[in-house]
Parts: sequence; structure tokens; C-alpha cells
Amino acid sequence: MRGIKFLVALGTGVFIGIGVSTLLSVKEATARKPFTKEDLKLMNEELMALVKKGDELWHSPKLGKNGLTCANCHPDGANSNPHTFPKFQDNVGKVATLREMINWCIKKPLEGKELPEDSEEMKALEAYAIYMYRGFPLKPGDNTREYPPVEVKSGPGYP
Ligand code: HEC
Repeated sequence: MRGIKFLVALGTGVFIGIGVSTLLSVKEATARKPFTKEDLKLMNEELMALVKKGDELWHSPKLGKNGLTCANCHPDGANSNPHTFPKFQDNVGKVATLREMINWCIKKPLEGKELPEDSEEMKALEAYAIYMYRGFPLKPGDNTREYPPVEVKSGPGYP
């Protein structure tokens, strides 16, 4: 009898042991290694390349047809308030994402052709706007606040 009890206890012990070590090994296999300095440098370089592309597009008339650039009305990204999206946008007539708002400005003030929302150009414009607003706090009420109209200092203007 004692022998059987011993065997059952041993069996349970081995069973639990295998279970625990399987769990541990699964955890080990799925947890990613911490990023190295080199990884972080490469990731930042990729992001900054996109921000640079966005900077160029923001200052380029090729998004539209009337010679205007985003920077005419939003110098250095001013008044683009990317951190307040998504929000109800009167001119779009619904809760709009930042990308939908960027397309509104391409279509209306720039008289251009909307960009596919998942295009590299759209991602770049978004990256630039958000980069220029880095560190900006989002306070309660910011996404329902009426922002003053964008001042047009050069170009034919809108509307
Ligand atoms: C001729 C002036 C003009 C140009 C050029 C222009 N915009 Fe705008 N932009 C506006 C106006 C007007 C609004 C609407 C303000 C409002 O009603 O909130 C606006 C709003 C925005 C907003 C939302 C700001 C907010 O607080 O809700 C974003 C983002 C934006 N523009 C991005 C762009 C981008 C990107 C470009 C270039 C593709 C561009 N704009 C070009 C005039 C302009």
C-alpha cells in the first residue's frame, strides 16, 4: 500500500514538474528580447525617414492643383492639431480621423485628389503632423473645442 502511495506521489510530482517546465519554456519562447541600442537606432531612423518624407510633402504643391501647399495655411504643422483626432469635424460632417481630415484639405483647399488612406504619402503626412506636435498634452475638451480659422498668409487662399 505504502509503495503504491509513493508511486502515485512520485507520478504526480513528475506530472506537475513537466507542466511547470512546459509553461516556463513556452514563456521563454514567446517573450521577446529587450531591444538593443542598435535596434532602437534603426527604428528611430525608419520613423524619421517617414517624418522627413511628410515634411517634404507638407511643403510640396504636388498634392494639389492650385499651387498651394499644406504649409501655406499650416506652417510647421500649425493648427493641424493631430492629437485631437478622431473628433466630430463639421466640414467632414462626421467623426473624422486625422487621415480623413488631411484628405478634406487635399480635396478642398488644395483642389487635389484624395490619397488612399493606407498610402505611404498619407502615413508620411500623419507622421510629420504628429512629430511636430510631440509632447503636446491632450486636455479634456480639446477634441470638441472650436479652433480659430487657419490664417492664410500667401497663395489664393480658402475658400
Ligand atoms: C488654404 C488654407 C489651407 C490649406 C492649404 C490646408 N489647410 Fe488644412 N485646414 C484649413 C481649414 C480652413 C481647416 C478647418 C479648420 C476647422 O474647421 O477646424 C483646416 C483643418 C486642418 C486639419 C484639422 C485641424 C483641426 O484642429 O481640426 C488638419 C489636420 C489639416 N487641416 C491638415 C492639412 C494638410 C495635411 C494640408 C495639406 C495637404 C492642409 N491642411 C492644407 C485650411 C487649409
